[in-house]
Amino acid sequence: MKPKVYVTRGIPESGISMLCEHCDVTVNPYEEPVQRDELVRLVSDKDGIICLPGDKIDKALIEMAHHLKAISTFSVGFEHIDVKEATKRGIYVGYTPGILTDATADMAFTLLLSMARKIPQSDQFVRAGGWKVAGSPRHLFGTSVWGTMIGIIGLGRIGKAMAERAHGFNMKVLYADSVRLDTDEEKDLGVNYRSFDDLLRESDFVSVHTPLTPETRHLINAEKLKLMKPSAIIINTARGSVIDEEALIVALKENWIAGAGLDVYEKEPLDPKNPLLALDNVVIIPHMGSATTQTRSAMSELAARNLLAVLRGTPPPSWLNPEVEKIRPLSEVKMLF
Ligand code: DGY
Repeated sequence: MKPKVYVTRGIPESGISMLCEHCDVTVNPYEEPVQRDELVRLVSDKDGIICLPGDKIDKALIEMAHHLKAISTFSVGFEHIDVKEATKRGIYVGYTPGILTDATADMAFTLLLSMARKIPQSDQFVRAGGWKVAGSPRHLFGTSVWGTMIGIIGLGRIGKAMAERAHGFNMKVLYADSVRLDTDEEKDLGVNYRSFDDLLRESDFVSVHTPLTPETRHLINAEKLKLMKPSAIIINTARGSVIDEEALIVALKENWIAGAGLDVYEKEPLDPKNPLLALDNVVIIPHMGSATTQTRSAMSELAARNLLAVLRGTPPPSWLNPEVEKIRPLSEVKMLF
């Protein structure tokens, strides 16, 4: 009998085809996730699932998925999965690090430039018929990027890729992280360590690249936002809850800082009544840091490879819980020969 797999959303076809060659695959073809009860029902007889952030793969769901051997997320973030519970139950968890690094850093830098140079506001201005004088010397002043100071919070894969892009704009790069690199590595990467507070005080642009964990939830709160320069711009392509959104809204309304470029929010999709939407010093995009055709296809394929590897009884290329092998060895989950 073929292994049964559920894919919670219509991810790019390349990964689905790989799964279909070996498994009995059910795909939710819609953009929206299915209702929770339906998800529990669909997963109850599956050997593997491919999920996304937004699908809550928590203890209760895992407990009811008696056949589950592998959870493979189509994302690098995994805060939606109870990895501890999965490990306890001998379920292998895969994710997609690395391949979305450049696309996400590109997007963070795009938000930075868009905010600095008022690109969305300028587009709106022209479309709304506001451009009445050719060559006006007073239109839509932005702020310079070349040669300024950027502070990167979280110097992991994406943080480092952001630093590379910043160097192309002759920016001085500061970073804050729970672990400081050694001096040689800092030199190689062209980055300078600062305490979190000093980074906020000194930077013209602050870009958030830390994963969401209990320790980083609301890492940037009202007190921290007040440390930033009134001319500073904050960019978040990591997870919404790393910033206290209510505090950010006040900071933007009261001009404690100059602006924000946001890809991620505390609650997604963004509520149409969210006050951020009424502010003109913020650029808002719908959690699309990795959304290029090439990157999303590669993510789909890696998510499929992670799942298929477990079902073949081999280590997945990218997994979060190698310790699970001690609980249930790969030989015991092998279904594909
Ligand atoms: C990720 O991979 O975690 C991105 O944020 C897309 O959800």
